[in-house]
Amino acid sequence: MKLFIFSARQPDYAVIKQWSLENKIEVGITEKDLTPDTAPLAKGASAVSTQQVSIREEEIYRTLSEYGVAAIGVRSTGVDSLNKQYMKQYGILGANIKAYSPRSIAEFALTTSMMLIRNIPRLLKHEQDLNFSWNRMLGREVASLTVGVIGTGNIGFVTAQLFKALGANVIAYDKFRRTDADAFLSYRATVEDVAREADILSLHVPYSDDTRHMIDDRILKIMKPSAILVNAARGPVVDTAALISALRSGEIAGAALDSLEGEEMYANKTKEQQGEANRYIGDLLAMDNVVLSPHIAFFTLEAATAMVQTSLRDLRDIAATGKSTGLISLE
Ligand SMILES: NC(=O)c1ccc[n+]([C@@H]2O[C@H](COP(=O)([O-])OP(=O)(O)OC[C@H]3O[C@@H](n4cnc5c(N)ncnc54)[C@H](O)[C@@H]3O)[C@@H](O)[C@H]2O)c1
Repeated sequence: MKLFIFSARQPDYAVIKQWSLENKIEVGITEKDLTPDTAPLAKGASAVSTQQVSIREEEIYRTLSEYGVAAIGVRSTGVDSLNKQYMKQYGILGANIKAYSPRSIAEFALTTSMMLIRNIPRLLKHEQDLNFSWNRMLGREVASLTVGVIGTGNIGFVTAQLFKALGANVIAYDKFRRTDADAFLSYRATVEDVAREADILSLHVPYSDDTRHMIDDRILKIMKPSAILVNAARGPVVDTAALISALRSGEIAGAALDSLEGEEMYANKTKEQQGEANRYIGDLLAMDNVVLSPHIAFFTLEAATAMVQTSLRDLRDIAATGKSTGLISLE
């Protein structure tokens, strides 16, 4: 059996080598994403793993199917990167990583929230002009704040626990409430109820028709003018145009955006690798109350290691037996 890894990152190499030796399975590697041009690299592999935001072209699925590739595994919790229609059409199974390190994203949501409540983006911008004034630098202490968590699954729950440990009052909304969360958070009936009370509103829902633009003009108007929004979930969960206008008019005080609509145009790309500019980037980078990051919340050594090991194990199992805990529904 041979497996093939696309979108390998520098920390992945040692983990892949070690796993390959221990399991006596050959693993091919490329740093390139899976595209119609690179799909032929998978020739001879039983299954492939990748980590990219979008695998759209039919040609990719056709080529992999011709090579007898049994499955595509995505090294992320989301499944929105795969085209399920083509997967079914070409008889390819899909796998994702159900939970690799929820803490990696939760800690990033916490970190960027703390940056905003202490005005660090503004401080860094002012320092570039040798401006060390305290003007507009008054911060807040997290223990006096209410944190609203939208989506209390793996990541949202750890986020709630981290904020609770720092003394914050944590409230939450989820379509399906957990029963083990009472010590850490109190549920509210609607997103609106959470948005109204929260000083920090942190999003941890998946992207679906249901959650598209969940945070829109209406919700932004409900939020406190002193509140900040944190999106380390998926870009389209927030209506970005409405957010930019809310930040400009002072409807809310700041935003930390690890995910953004159209992030595939720049995430993990140098300036030279980017084509057309994302339409929102210029406006957001000009603001001193925004932390913008390129979908990097998950990117820790701990998470990268867990992702590669889990993906290879799942693909080995699928290639050998057609079964794995990582299999996703194609419906
Ligand atoms: N920025 C990053 O690096 C990064 C990395 C991994 C995951 N993510 C994002 O974080 C999201 C959450 O991941 P997770 O592992 O916690 O997922 P999860 O499935 O464990 O939790 C998602 C929660 O959202 C709830 N939910 C779903 N639809 C909802 C709706 N319409 N209204 C309210 N609640 C709803 C679910 O009931 C569930 O409790 C992922 O789907 C992904 O979009 C981002």
